[in-house]
Amino acid sequence: MGLDYQLVLWNKHKKTYDKVIVFSMLLYVILFAVVTLVFNSETSIETLIIRAFGSLAIIMLHIILAIGPLSRLNTRFLPILYNRRHLGVSMFIAVLIHGGFSIFQFHALGDVNPIYSIFTSNMDYGSLTNFPFQVLGFLALLILFTMASTSHDFFLANLSAKTWKRLHMMVYVAYTLIIAHVFLGAFQQETSPFTIGILIIGFISISGLHIVTAFKESKIDNTKVKKGTEGWLKVCEIEEIEETRAKIFTIKNERVAIFKYGGKLSAIHNVCKHQGGPLGEGKIIDGCITCPWHGYQYLPYNGQSPPPFTEKVATYELKLDGKIVYINPKAFEEGKAVEPCYII
Ligand code: HEM
Ligand code: FES
Repeated sequence: MGLDYQLVLWNKHKKTYDKVIVFSMLLYVILFAVVTLVFNSETSIETLIIRAFGSLAIIMLHIILAIGPLSRLNTRFLPILYNRRHLGVSMFIAVLIHGGFSIFQFHALGDVNPIYSIFTSNMDYGSLTNFPFQVLGFLALLILFTMASTSHDFFLANLSAKTWKRLHMMVYVAYTLIIAHVFLGAFQQETSPFTIGILIIGFISISGLHIVTAFKESKIDNTKVKKGTEGWLKVCEIEEIEETRAKIFTIKNERVAIFKYGGKLSAIHNVCKHQGGPLGEGKIIDGCITCPWHGYQYLPYNGQSPPPFTEKVATYELKLDGKIVYINPKAFEEGKAVEPCYII
């Protein structure tokens, strides 16, 4: 964790996921080639490769964009979230093959620099039906390259989680550019109805998933926290929190997770220091709050990662009045030990 950047841990699960990714990618390309050659035997090998890897990349991108909301809606998707970065880098390799072959086929054989040629071979920027759609693909490729090359934990540690997250939110800009790339390209190339179909269904599914998740999240933010006495806020009854789990509340625009474990309650800031994962959606494992995204751990009573790790999140004071849980809305500094609230 924060002591130093960590090497990717090649545990058994990660290796299995990687094998599944590589096997599925190969299977897709082989199937795509067979179907294309059966129905259109005149397709050149370059065009086949461009189309196979372009459509493979767009399918992978949709899966990547769906993992986040899916794992917020159902915890069974969390193992895939844990391996999302490898999926992202694999998708980038598919995009690189697609873009590389396109540049080779359409721009490398003249006497102009191939990259310059992408921008200048078609200058019809004012037209919809003849727009230089490859420029949009190239810009998306640059964004995906930046993301793939900074995906290692070394960059996460050195750029700070916030900057890294912002950088990786650029995937939505890349997605928009890619949608425009394929749709505008379809006016000029015989883009298959299959790819257009994937895009339409994919776009509707991704938007739908994000809307449903945002709705679920907004429910947390709108959960009424009532004023108690002397500044304490009434949050819930003890029974509403499951053992070793948490309930999340929005207190002064900050999300706070209240955990119940072994007859005690503790409250910490909900945002993981690694990549902003929702700590309150994790559970207590080996006495530590364990982030559901990649497993960073924090001690419930002081919000500190156990030594030798150095991550810290803010803590909060709780009190009980009968079965009602109250929280002091004023956060303590990160890592400050607070006596847990004992359930009598
Ligand atoms: C240097 C960057 C890129 C270049 C030069 C480029 C070029 C092209 C070309 C020439 C086509 C038409 C191929 C044909 O149908 O004959 C195409 C289609 C396509 N591109 Fe790109 N592209 C680039 C980046 C991307 C990126 C980043 C994606 C992301 C997934 C992408 C996805 C697609 C897809 C899905 C198609 C439609 C494939 C089909 O016809 O079924 N491209 N691209
Ligand atoms: S966000 Fe990665 S462990 Fe919490």
